[in-house]
Amino acid sequence: MNELTIQPLLEEHFFWLHRHPEQSYFEHETTAYIKHALGKANIEILNTGLKTGLVALISAARKNGALVALRADIDALPVTEESGCDYASQNNGFMHACGHDFHTAALLGAALLLKQKQAELVNDVLLVFQPAEEVSGGAESVLATGALDKANVIFGLHVAPDYPCGTVALKSGGTFAAVSAFKITIKGKGGHAAMPQLCRDPVVAAAALIMAAQTIISRTSDPLDSVVLSFTHIEAGKTWNVIPETAFVEGTIRALGTKEAQSATKKLGAFCKAIELSHEIECNFDSWLDAPATNNDVELTRYAELTAGKLGLNVTAYKPTMAGEDFALYQEKIRGLFINFGVESASALHHPAFRANYKGLSDAARLLAELAFNFKEDKNARAA
Ligand code: NI
Repeated sequence: MNELTIQPLLEEHFFWLHRHPEQSYFEHETTAYIKHALGKANIEILNTGLKTGLVALISAARKNGALVALRADIDALPVTEESGCDYASQNNGFMHACGHDFHTAALLGAALLLKQKQAELVNDVLLVFQPAEEVSGGAESVLATGALDKANVIFGLHVAPDYPCGTVALKSGGTFAAVSAFKITIKGKGGHAAMPQLCRDPVVAAAALIMAAQTIISRTSDPLDSVVLSFTHIEAGKTWNVIPETAFVEGTIRALGTKEAQSATKKLGAFCKAIELSHEIECNFDSWLDAPATNNDVELTRYAELTAGKLGLNVTAYKPTMAGEDFALYQEKIRGLFINFGVESASALHHPAFRANYKGLSDAARLLAELAFNFKEDKNARAA
């Protein structure tokens, strides 16, 4: 099955997946669909105990190769589709607005291409269909199965709406941001709006914190590091003439380096202490690292560049994003590369009108298959 004959089948997979988006951790139909497609191709599915998602294996015919993992995420978002496409979501309130349908279809394609070449295959290839990328814990659940413990390398791919269809966009180092999340509860003393002197106003304290905290980015972060702080949720009070007891705010800090995100988050905690003192109020700060930054191996980036070139695909430099990706968790354990693949959508990822150009599906599949097929651990991945 070459590129020309695989494209209609991959479109069929893509349309089905797009019509049937499922929430993170509830990708039951999607998992069954993937199992069926792999089963038809006689590809072995490993017994990992995953409730949704799966790991499959194509064993090398020859010995002494590497263990290569290819990863796709399979979950959708709680977004009501407005793309206007004729294969729109049939699961109201959910949509593949982040292209995970494309990733899944492309990995199914790579699986078929590798299966066809199994007799010449030197590397064992693990096919990782990961659940729950859009919420916490998806990558961890796959890593916890131990299926990837011996993997030498991992490749993943994400659709990129602002690149031409089929363009392979690459960057070594940080490409997706480290994502830190925080929640702050401010406890004051409520009372009459007319008598603030008898109260400890949590609304004013929250407002002061929100305004002052932006100086963490503008005054304490290195201007050459990319760091962003967004407060995204505020709640306090119920009416116009009562000062409430408490205020709640939450948000996110992101940076292209995990260290930078953690450092800015720590400073926000210190700002909370200052607000406590200056407003004579209690300020409880809670934060956690939702995902580290993706960190692309330099040699693997070069390897992908050469491989894509060999396949006749356009290669360009990728401009990093402050969005997060739990692919980074694999990269903490396994040498890895996260590739961005152009699907030229007028609407951004996570937008209800997002629409991936699926004409590049077979190219994405060929790229993944080729990367897995030619990878050579002992030559620093310079096989292409
Ligand atoms: Ni995504």
